[in-house]
Amino acid sequence: MAASVRDVAARASVSVGTVSNVLNRPEKVAPATVARVMDAIEALGFVRNDAARQLRAGRSRSIGLVVLDVRNPFFTDIARGAEDRAAGDELAVLLGNSDEDVGREGAYLDLFEEQRVHGLLISPLADDLPRLERLRSRGTPVVLVDREAGDRSFSSVAVDDLVGGELAVRHLIETGRRRIAYVGGPDSIRQVTDRLAGARRAAEGTAAAIEVIPTASLTVAEGHRAGAAIRSRPRGERPDAVFAANDLLAIGVLQGLLADRDVRVPDEIALIGYDDIDFAAAGVVPLSSIRQPAQLIGSTAVDLLLREAAAGPGFVREQIVFQPELVVRESTRGR
Ligand code: RIB
Repeated sequence: MAASVRDVAARASVSVGTVSNVLNRPEKVAPATVARVMDAIEALGFVRNDAARQLRAGRSRSIGLVVLDVRNPFFTDIARGAEDRAAGDELAVLLGNSDEDVGREGAYLDLFEEQRVHGLLISPLADDLPRLERLRSRGTPVVLVDREAGDRSFSSVAVDDLVGGELAVRHLIETGRRRIAYVGGPDSIRQVTDRLAGARRAAEGTAAAIEVIPTASLTVAEGHRAGAAIRSRPRGERPDAVFAANDLLAIGVLQGLLADRDVRVPDEIALIGYDDIDFAAAGVVPLSSIRQPAQLIGSTAVDLLLREAAAGPGFVREQIVFQPELVVRESTRGR
């Protein structure tokens, strides 16, 4: 039978209220009494029942974070930034992976609402903002991560993906590339379509042409499939550069292109990704990429969430947009 607060109080010869004070406001209790209660907790193996505390306090000491793909180091970097900032307010971060699946995303929204999280950070899959508005109307503040709400109805932290796509393609054009393939998808993910729009904007009025090679997801496997398809074309029909919607795709494209050493990167085909995850620089051909300040995105999102959670009605929400940064490495070296 698990030890209760009453067992701890009896063992330490104090009241239940004193045990509660030691757990929640130790600075208000005499050090000798704190020590005696902590000894009793240790001896009895007492674990506090946070569910009861949550019911009294109305909110848990955790923040929910729903990301699109937990395998993507970009999102684990976001989680790291969020966790470091949340710890400053003695809050934990509970991570949920929607895996780019609407059903899984909805299940996490239900779970975190039931858990009465202090607030929710989410990189939403589609434009399911009404679902998030209902969550917020029932008392759970929500901040969008890596996306913004077109109507400014949510606080958000993102990077300007239009500028990011433009930076990538302008760089490829400046290194002499003209037949540029954009590898990315699905179109339901706004980051993908915004990066393509930026790519097209950079190519406007130039001799460069953009070909789209759609993918079912933003994964290494889908990138590998696209790279192999490019390699299987006759040499004269291949692009001379690939812009991948994120680094996982780019890593897969590189694997597909180099599979039989028939294609030389960057001499024949240059390659640039997006996110600048740690693995980008570590590949067999160090990858050029468009860097996103992932940890800063995570910590800033928590800042906005805590401000909204503490604010009353009439709180003015903010949409913070960071600028992406071009990082040049071997994979786009000029010819
Ligand atoms: O998962 C979606 C992609 O968009 C990530 O790779 C990252 O680039 C995010 O912005």
